[in-house]
Amino acid sequence: MISYKELGLVNSRELFKKAVDGGYAIPAFNFNNLEQLQAIVSACVETKSPVILQVSSGARKYANQTLLKNLAKGAVEYAEELGYKIPIVLHLDHGDTFELCKSCIEMGFSSVMIDGSHHPYEKNVELTAQVVEYAHKYDVTVEGELGVLAGIEDDVQSDVTHYTKPEEVEDFVKKTGVDSLAISIGTSHGANKFKPEQCTRNEDGILIPPPLRFDILEEIEKRIPGFPIVLHGASSVPPELVKIINSNGGRLKDAVGIPEDQLRRAARSAVCKINIDSDGRLAMTAAIRKYLNEHPEEFDPRKYLGPAREALKELYKHKIVNVLGSNDKA
Ligand code: G3H
Ligand code: 13P
Ligand code: ZN
Repeated sequence: MISYKELGLVNSRELFKKAVDGGYAIPAFNFNNLEQLQAIVSACVETKSPVILQVSSGARKYANQTLLKNLAKGAVEYAEELGYKIPIVLHLDHGDTFELCKSCIEMGFSSVMIDGSHHPYEKNVELTAQVVEYAHKYDVTVEGELGVLAGIEDDVQSDVTHYTKPEEVEDFVKKTGVDSLAISIGTSHGANKFKPEQCTRNEDGILIPPPLRFDILEEIEKRIPGFPIVLHGASSVPPELVKIINSNGGRLKDAVGIPEDQLRRAARSAVCKINIDSDGRLAMTAAIRKYLNEHPEEFDPRKYLGPAREALKELYKHKIVNVLGSNDKA
């Protein structure tokens, strides 16, 4: 057992309190490799933002959990080396079993998500409470989820959205003891968040999605005032990135995300953690496709991963400053 404190990491409790009070959201960026981590840390240092480094179980399988943990440990030192100490949380994204959460806590994670949202309510309560009881012994914070997001969450696929029922949140928070709650108000995972028939098109042919259900968010805030709320599936799928990908050999069809002004509005509320993964994937893929298309003779991975890392860093800085508002909060 190693405590996250020995790795120089922090849990999310204090960060969330400040974010709710201050009307901004902490960025929760997923990472699977070195370049993504470098981009996240340098963007957060340059903007003086706290950060949540998210590891999904897919990431653990892909990159190896020990390597990811040591990358996160290195991130703490890397930030200092870049010239500014920022609070860094290492968080398990979409943990689906008690055993997985326990294993992450034992290897140095400072925060875990137990996603029991696909279970019936009572089972979700029971599983979440079990994780909370274990995690709190080690001062690790826990995120639960109520309501189901359409799209893919690791291996679990749902075609339909089940919005969070406001009448359940107070009971869930009280019975489980969770530190934050992920809710479903119309976001979903991936780059195709809505079917074209759910959207309208603007004059440039760009798909405009239906607005988020701020009425549900407001109702939840009334029932659990000031309680930290989390928004998953918050990528915006910038049309300019989709265009670069598709004009350099890619084939992304009907990709559509959440408009940034809606996320900005959410960040000003009790939403204090916003999860972004797909936009980073798009930024990297766009940069790599463009570079390789323009330099067909190149085969040194540093040549195309370098610009990809730079594009990713710019994307993260933009999110921090213009969407989340977490700059200068570290
Ligand atoms: O919520 C899903 C995250 O974007 C992680 O995706 O399971 O493909 O690593 P992944
Ligand atoms: P996106 O697919 O919208 O980036 O959502 C990521 C996420 O919610 C990770 O948990
Ligand atoms: Zn998610």
